[in-house]
Amino acid sequence: MVLASLLYASVLTACSVYGAGVRPGQIKHLVTFGDSYTDVVLTGDAATAWPVYAAGYAHVALHPFARAGATCSNNLTFRPFPPLFESQIPLYLTEKANGSLRLPPDETIYTLWIGTNDLGVSTLLTGSDPGVSLVDVTECMVNWVKVLYESGARNFIFQNMIPLELTILYAADSYPNKYWAFERNTTEWSIIMTEMTRSGNKLTQLMLQALAPTLPGAHIALFDSHSLFQDMFDHPALYLNGTAPLNVTGTWNACVTTIGGTTLDCTVANGTDRDSFLWADELHPSEQADRIVAREIALTLEGKHSRWATWLS
Ligand SMILES: *[C@@H]1O[C@H](CO)[C@@H](O)[C@H](O)[C@H]1NC(C)=O
Ligand SMILES: *[C@@H]1O[C@H](CO)[C@@H](O)[C@H](O)[C@H]1NC(C)=O
Ligand SMILES: *[C@@H]1O[C@H](CO)[C@@H](O)[C@H](O)[C@H]1NC(C)=O
Ligand SMILES: *[C@@H]1O[C@H](CO)[C@@H](O)[C@H](O)[C@H]1NC(C)=O
Ligand SMILES: *[C@@H]1O[C@H](CO)[C@@H](O)[C@H](O)[C@H]1NC(C)=O
Ligand SMILES: *[C@@H]1O[C@H](CO)[C@@H](O)[C@H](O)[C@H]1NC(C)=O
Repeated sequence: MVLASLLYASVLTACSVYGAGVRPGQIKHLVTFGDSYTDVVLTGDAATAWPVYAAGYAHVALHPFARAGATCSNNLTFRPFPPLFESQIPLYLTEKANGSLRLPPDETIYTLWIGTNDLGVSTLLTGSDPGVSLVDVTECMVNWVKVLYESGARNFIFQNMIPLELTILYAADSYPNKYWAFERNTTEWSIIMTEMTRSGNKLTQLMLQALAPTLPGAHIALFDSHSLFQDMFDHPALYLNGTAPLNVTGTWNACVTTIGGTTLDCTVANGTDRDSFLWADELHPSEQADRIVAREIALTLEGKHSRWATWLS
């Protein structure tokens, strides 16, 4: 009896070791979806985007599909940019079908980092379609796993939303800027963003936890961008390394305007000073913040331990 339960325990341990996550050396291709936080051409950080660093750190090939301005679906939160569901996924599936992309499922990992535009100005925060809520948008995000799984994908990293209220655009202590130069109550925006990012992330976590056991052979990691960015904000000296005083509340490219204003008054930091900042502008993480994201994503897809990633399957 004792022996049997010992044996059973060791079988369970073996399963949890080899069953969860990807193996070291397994992944050779990184396919990225999302918005300007992940776009490698129109980069949010006005420098090198995190996928380029991550692919370099982990020695994998990069296949980038994320596009600046994107939302999960333009059926839900419309913006005139290439959305995940009506543009990025279709392009990926087309390239896969016509043979220009050849990605062995076992050797390929897929990432999604989205939500900044879906929750933000001109969408959920300021109201767009009254029939659409955070519930629909988060269901759309999680559906990305299901749709790619059905097309053969097996390995996923789902990057949740950062605490957007820490960006200058959504901070209580904000100023009119290139993203929003109309009247607003910055305190209320900050409160709503705090609520939406936290509850949106909880919704996607619960939905992914329910989905994971229904997808045989899939490996899904939940990457906690929210906690990582909160930690960078709280402990900048652990992450930022530029030559200016460390700065998590401003940006190296601060452009101030007035309500209804059309001209921007910019204060720009240069060179190695930029690595002291958490933000590249009023909405986007800096290149140094992105290097940290890249380092942790690289660890995850290499089958190593990242403090910010949890394998759900
Ligand atoms: C968006 O709407 C179009 C037209 O109704 C539909 O074909 C498409 O499947 C919808 N996309 C999503 C993600 O629901
Ligand atoms: C495959 O589709 C993509 C996207 O439409 C296109 O750019 C590419 O040229 C196509 N390749 C082939 C071999 O047809
Ligand atoms: C802004 O919103 C906060 C929180 O709801 C409220 O306490 C404050 O009075 C509002 N400020 C203005 C100027 O309306
Ligand atoms: C900060 O650290 C990164 C590695 O995370 C390095 O690539 C970068 O050059 C460093 N920046 C400075 C200003 O030393
Ligand atoms: C942070 O940067 C902003 C510019 O965006 C500047 O106004 C502010 O004084 C800086 N804060 C610190 C603590 O250096
Ligand atoms: C950064 O470079 C720009 C363009 O050369 C210059 O206008 C600006 O004053 C520089 N910023 C600092 C803080 O020196």
